[in-house]
Amino acid sequence: VKGAFTIAIDGPAAAGKGTISRAVAAHFGAAHLDTGLLYRAVGAKVLLGMTPEAAARALVPGDLDAPDLRSPEVAQSASRVAVIPDVRAALREFQHEFARRDGGAVLDGRDIGTVICPDADAKLFVTASAEVRAQRRFAELRDSGVETSFEQVLADVKDRDARDMQRAEAPLKPASDAVVIDTSEMSIDEAVAAAIAAVEAARG
Ligand code: CDP
Ligand code: CDP
Repeated sequence: VKGAFTIAIDGPAAAGKGTISRAVAAHFGAAHLDTGLLYRAVGAKVLLGMTPEAAARALVPGDLDAPDLRSPEVAQSASRVAVIPDVRAALREFQHEFARRDGGAVLDGRDIGTVICPDADAKLFVTASAEVRAQRRFAELRDSGVETSFEQVLADVKDRDARDMQRAEAPLKPASDAVVIDTSEMSIDEAVAAAIAAVEAARG
């Protein structure tokens, strides 16, 4: 595939966006940006005492390699800074430039198909029940040595989903032209195959 093409993958916390995005990007030879890392990097700096606006304006790509961006505390901080319009505006140009790169780009997040790339060549909305998502995230955190409980992870996921869906600016919702993939009862391989088929259908 030649030239610039953009694939937008949105959905709630721990739905499998990252796993699917990496596989879709590899399949089509495209680059991948996990836009959640931008908000996590800002959220992490706020936990260290910066203001959200200053942290977003000062963000550099190296910040996305910071340790501990995957922690539950950083996830909650990310969703709190993500409601602030100036924070979202400061992160926009980087995402636009990434989306335009030659050779294709896959971006995953909450507002890629609705706000960042409304003209994307293919849009997917990846979701699963809150219980399934919390179970997956709990297993991930447990495997990386984080001490938590399923109930705590479920409460965190529901709290973040509610904040992401209810905010005024760029709320989490499927674009009207997105293909919705519910992975609640799918293996990773099945979800990836469904995503690749949906992208191929959308691109004709
Ligand atoms: O990026 P997002 O937060 O949406 O999710 P992820 O990090 O890709 O996936 C969360 C966890 O669920 C990972 O440990 C995946 O391996 C797992 N997963 C799964 O068990 N079954 C799927 N169909 C998709 C993801
Ligand atoms: O991996 P997971 O799905 O749990 O979260 P993430 O994609 O890393 O996103 C962390 C938080 O950043 C979300 O809960 C949103 O509040 C925010 N976010 C956003 O507002 N817009 C995006 N495009 C991506 C993330």
